[in-house]
Amino acid sequence: MSNFPSEEPVLVTCGLPYANGKCHIGHLRTYVPADIFVRALRKQGQQAAFICGSDAHGTPIVVNAEELGITPSELVSKYHKHFESIFRAMEVEFSFFGNTDSPTNHARTNSIVEALIERGYVYPQVIRLAYCPNDNRFLPDRYVEGICPYCGAVARGDECDQGCGKHLEPGEIKNAKCRICGNPAEYREQEHFFFRLSAFSGFLSEYLETLGGTANAINYAKEWARELKDWCITRNLEWGVRFPGHEDLVVYVWVDAPIGYISFTEEWAADGWEKYWRQKSRIIHFIGEDITYHHCIFWPAMLKGAGYTQPWAVVASGMLKIDDKKFSKSRGYVVWVDEDYLDHGFHPDLLRYYIANYTSHTKELNFSWKVFQDKVNNELVGALGNFLHRTLHFAHKNFGAVPEGEVDKEIYEKIQSTVQKVISAFDEYEFKKATDEMMELAAYGNSYFQSKEPWQLIKKDRGACAHVLKNCLQIGKALVLLFEPVLPGIMEKAWRQLALAGDVHVARLEEALVEIPSHELLAPEILFSKIEDKKIKEMEFILDRRIKIAMAKEKNKLEAGKEKAEITFEEFQKLDIRVGRVLSAENIKGSDKLLRLEVDIGEKRQIVAGIAKSHAPSELVGRQVVVLANMKPAKLFGVESKGMILAADGEGAVLLLPEKEVKEGARVR
Ligand code: MF3
Ligand code: ZN
Repeated sequence: MSNFPSEEPVLVTCGLPYANGKCHIGHLRTYVPADIFVRALRKQGQQAAFICGSDAHGTPIVVNAEELGITPSELVSKYHKHFESIFRAMEVEFSFFGNTDSPTNHARTNSIVEALIERGYVYPQVIRLAYCPNDNRFLPDRYVEGICPYCGAVARGDECDQGCGKHLEPGEIKNAKCRICGNPAEYREQEHFFFRLSAFSGFLSEYLETLGGTANAINYAKEWARELKDWCITRNLEWGVRFPGHEDLVVYVWVDAPIGYISFTEEWAADGWEKYWRQKSRIIHFIGEDITYHHCIFWPAMLKGAGYTQPWAVVASGMLKIDDKKFSKSRGYVVWVDEDYLDHGFHPDLLRYYIANYTSHTKELNFSWKVFQDKVNNELVGALGNFLHRTLHFAHKNFGAVPEGEVDKEIYEKIQSTVQKVISAFDEYEFKKATDEMMELAAYGNSYFQSKEPWQLIKKDRGACAHVLKNCLQIGKALVLLFEPVLPGIMEKAWRQLALAGDVHVARLEEALVEIPSHELLAPEILFSKIEDKKIKEMEFILDRRIKIAMAKEKNKLEAGKEKAEITFEEFQKLDIRVGRVLSAENIKGSDKLLRLEVDIGEKRQIVAGIAKSHAPSELVGRQVVVLANMKPAKLFGVESKGMILAADGEGAVLLLPEKEVKEGARVR
């Protein structure tokens, strides 16, 4: 028996993206399967609300806005629009996409926090907090950097983001430094407010026994529920939702963010939200594995404490890899959905299929362009597209319509069993299994078509041939209905090509067993086309280049940060540094970086300098420069260089100049 449709109202949510960066494939790993799931529910006759929105608060957003010289609210509105447009383009269709800075969310957060206070689940405590004496401010979360007390990795104030991944409570981090000025932080005492999570251990261990979803989430949560620490839920920040009664405090972002799920439901259905959040319902959260703690421990406890309905299932997606390397924006292992995918003209459905079908939802998903090409060309083009096209093409050409006549029982049975397997895979959030079953039906269709040889049959027995095509077209109809949640755009086209009436997005799965009507067919157009090697090379080149640039940046950063060893005065005296005047300058053939200079440093020297990108030869002639004269001679591009021009790192090379003109050859000491 399948889980849906159910009597209880169903609400599906996706983890709220932080509105401070662009959408990448890592995000889609949660949103696409959630969208597929919701569409599949509707195909089973289950109404479902689908809710998401921007996560607007938290220190990363304040820090980023500060760096960009804009307000947090401007930053949030920019990325809010960005995510909305990407979701639209990727056919991820939320019923409502909100923003946690909305008045409704401020109000709902206040009312939940007040309820928790009233019921005794919030208490004040004086704690030691990182404080920067230089900037005269407390340093919440991202404002402090230091060492993780658990694993020793470099960490930020609220999370060991590069090491063990543990959540850190304020004051826990070691060697705290201010992120604004870099000075060591001091500790000051201040009263903050704690959520009494420890009071929920009994509730949670029982609750987690009944919570549905994926094993990766539930099993971890059960472990964590054995040992619960109270949570500090206030922060010294301007940006956020005020903690009731304290003008100088806001609530921690992980309080008001999940409350967004409720507020957005409220904004979407002003008088209908309570049936989801105050009565028995099925709330299904799709999240990334990394935020399991918040959704399986903290959030249900908050809801329970304030008197709201708790989640029915938590579905956690595994993490993303790019070319088998850990996803990392700073290291360049990232594929942006707009500039690296949509802007290149790839259809959203192709990536949706990849995400659903690459591996089980809870495992690591690797994205590589080569695999993308293989899956598109072999599976979507080679199996599904091929079957639909050859069937439609043959039927149109020879009959001009869907032939009259009955569909074989055996064909209906095959369809029926596929539908059942697909539904039970969706019930288990096994998107790979579901799409594999669908593909298997396409493969069945192909081998049926092949074995019946309709191209022979048409010459001998037109009636028998019509019968074969009728069966194929019925399989085609079933395939379109099955694949619609995964490939909504392309299946909409296929639905029209099959001359089927109504809206494929509304049509139910059970219609797969309703005989396809004998309407006229138009000449079919190609639904899927092969991706050429050339295109994949181009995409790989873009990714490679990004990785290389990121590596170079990392290296520069490391070198800039490296403290050099001390040297003695005698050692310094070994350097022969002199002022010189550029006599001539020209580009070196074959190099876009190097210039050949003749410099008078009391004697004439030929020097090769890597400054062609920032300086034209003509602007250098006649100018004074500073030269390391006893640099060991070297040959660059076949040109001998005796000496080195000194420059500072900046926008390109920034040449050093003497304060006023001095005689050529003057020593620098
Ligand atoms: N913005 C968070 C993240 O990207 C997710 C917030 S989910 C919610 O990790 F539950 F808090 F809403
Ligand atoms: Zn750690």
